[in-house]
Amino acid sequence: MPPTLLLIHGFPLDATLWSEQVEGLSADARILAPDLRGFGADRRPLPEVMTMEAHAEDLRDLLDEQGVDRVVLCGLSMGGYVAMAFLERWPERVAGLILAHTRASVDDEAGRQARMELVHEVTERGMERLARGMVGGLLTPRTMQRHPELVERVRAMIARQQPEAAAASALGMAQRMDRHATLRKVRVPALILVGEHDRLMPPHTAEPMREAMPHADLVMLPETAHLGCLEFSMGFNGAIHRWLKERITNA
Ligand code: MLT
Repeated sequence: MPPTLLLIHGFPLDATLWSEQVEGLSADARILAPDLRGFGADRRPLPEVMTMEAHAEDLRDLLDEQGVDRVVLCGLSMGGYVAMAFLERWPERVAGLILAHTRASVDDEAGRQARMELVHEVTERGMERLARGMVGGLLTPRTMQRHPELVERVRAMIARQQPEAAAASALGMAQRMDRHATLRKVRVPALILVGEHDRLMPPHTAEPMREAMPHADLVMLPETAHLGCLEFSMGFNGAIHRWLKERITNA
């Protein structure tokens, strides 16, 4: 039986972030790539604050609906925060853990302040301006210059999200817990993916996660910023393909 791989997207994005993985990894795993609550096509009711635990509960419900008992979690950035919240609550359902472009630490004061400003911005003005402002921080300068189609894909993905969903998850991220203790309990295979030029989660932010999970494999994606799954999908998929083969399928 191939493993089930649950792909959890970042903020403020949707499941189309994973198009290259749904295509490229479908021979290795059964893939689930849902829209988190309020994002993409999802229109479930939104609380004012959508905590990482609440997102994790939605994913647990999805697994129950699909009859999936154990899963390999793959979370990118905010998706990683959600994966770690899931792991804390339902460790017995996690067969493996992939943390991409993420961290286990909480926001500092400046980070929380920036979240409040983002909530104000999207509530007052919608997503367009945020989308234009954010995209350059998510991709490398090289991609910004040479791949206008990727730039437009990411810009449009952000611009089409509901402001209420972005605000609720931003407030949820501001309240999230430190997860290093959760990671220290992990005994299943783990893979950490970092982007060489990720300015939001620079490679050194992975060091404490690696210390908490000394058995984890770590792969640095060259020429990649915050969205390795689309900026360097071949390298991203290749790392997961090899890791699944070595650590999960034959485990
Ligand atoms: C993301 O890509 O999901 C966000 O950058 C995470 C965050 O804002 O902490």
